[in-house]
Amino acid sequence: MTRNSLRDQVVVVTGAARGMGEVHVRALAEAGAKVLATDVLDAEGEALAESLGDGVLYRRLDVTSEEQWRSALEVAESQFGPVQHLVNNAGIVMFGSIQDLDPADWQRTIDINLTGCWLGMHVVIPSMKRAGGGSIINISSTAGLQGYASLGAYVASKWGLRGLTKTAALELGRFGIRVNLIHPGPIRTPMIDGVDADGMAQSQPIARVGEPQEVTDMLLYLMADATYSTGHEFIIDGGAVIGQVVASIEEQS
Ligand SMILES: NC(=O)c1ccc[n+]([C@@H]2O[C@H](COP(=O)([O-])OP(=O)(O)OC[C@H]3O[C@@H](n4cnc5c(N)ncnc54)[C@H](O)[C@@H]3O)[C@@H](O)[C@H]2O)c1
Repeated sequence: MTRNSLRDQVVVVTGAARGMGEVHVRALAEAGAKVLATDVLDAEGEALAESLGDGVLYRRLDVTSEEQWRSALEVAESQFGPVQHLVNNAGIVMFGSIQDLDPADWQRTIDINLTGCWLGMHVVIPSMKRAGGGSIINISSTAGLQGYASLGAYVASKWGLRGLTKTAALELGRFGIRVNLIHPGPIRTPMIDGVDADGMAQSQPIARVGEPQEVTDMLLYLMADATYSTGHEFIIDGGAVIGQVVASIEEQS
C-alpha cells in the first residue's frame, strides 16, 4: 500500500471524535496527512487532535449546518491549504418500525446521514477543484444494500447515499476527483453498544464483529491506491450480505 502518497494531503473527516472516524484520523495522521477532524463531540475531538500533534486540528461541525461546513472549510484551507480528500463518515442510527418511528427521528436521520453528505460535497468540491483533484469517500452500510426491520430511516439514508455517490462520481471525474462508497457490516464502535452484534455475526461466513481498523485499511486504499475506481461500492462485512450460514450445512462438515 502506498500510504506515503497521503503525506501532506489535506483531508476533512466528519464524525471523527470516536468510533471509526477516530481510527481513520489516527491512521491518516500516521501517514503524514493534514487532517481537519470534525464532530459534535468537542471534548473527545479536541483530545484526539491534541494527542496527534500539529498535523491534526479539531473543529466543531454539525454536518446538517451549511454555515458550519463553510467555517470548517475556511479553517482547513487557511491552516493547511485546499482540501484533497473528504470523508463523509458522521452518522446516527434510530430504531423504530415504519409505523412507530417519530417523524422527527426519520427527518433527523435523513438530515445527518444523507443531507449532511450532500452538504459536505456541495461545500467542499470547489476546494477540491482548486487542489487539482482528490477523492471523496462516503460511508454507507450493509443497510444500504438490503432492508432491516426497525431501521427504515437508516436504510433509506444509506441507500440514498449510493445514488449520490454515483452522481458525484459522474460530475467530478473530469476534475480528477474520484468518489467511492464503503458499506461496513457490524463494526465494533459505540454505535452498536446495546445491540447483540456478536450474536448476529454468528450467521456470517466470518463469524465475528469487524474492527474499525479493517474499514480504515479500505479507506486508505480508496484514497491512495484506487486510482482507477470511481462511483463504486466496497463491502466490508464478513460476508454478511451474501447469505446466511445455516446449521444444517455446518453439521455436514
Ligand atoms: N458500527 C457499525 O456497525 C456500522 C456499520 C455500518 C455503517 N456504519 C456507519 O459508519 C459511520 C461511523 O459510525 P461509527 O460506527 O463509528 O459510530 P459512532 O457513533 O461511534 O460515530 C459516529 C460519529 O458521528 C458523530 N455525529 C453524529 N451526529 C453528527 C452530526 N450531526 N454532525 C457531525 N457528527 C455527528 C458522532 O458524534 C460520532 O462521533 C456512520 O456513518 C455509520 O452509519 C457503522
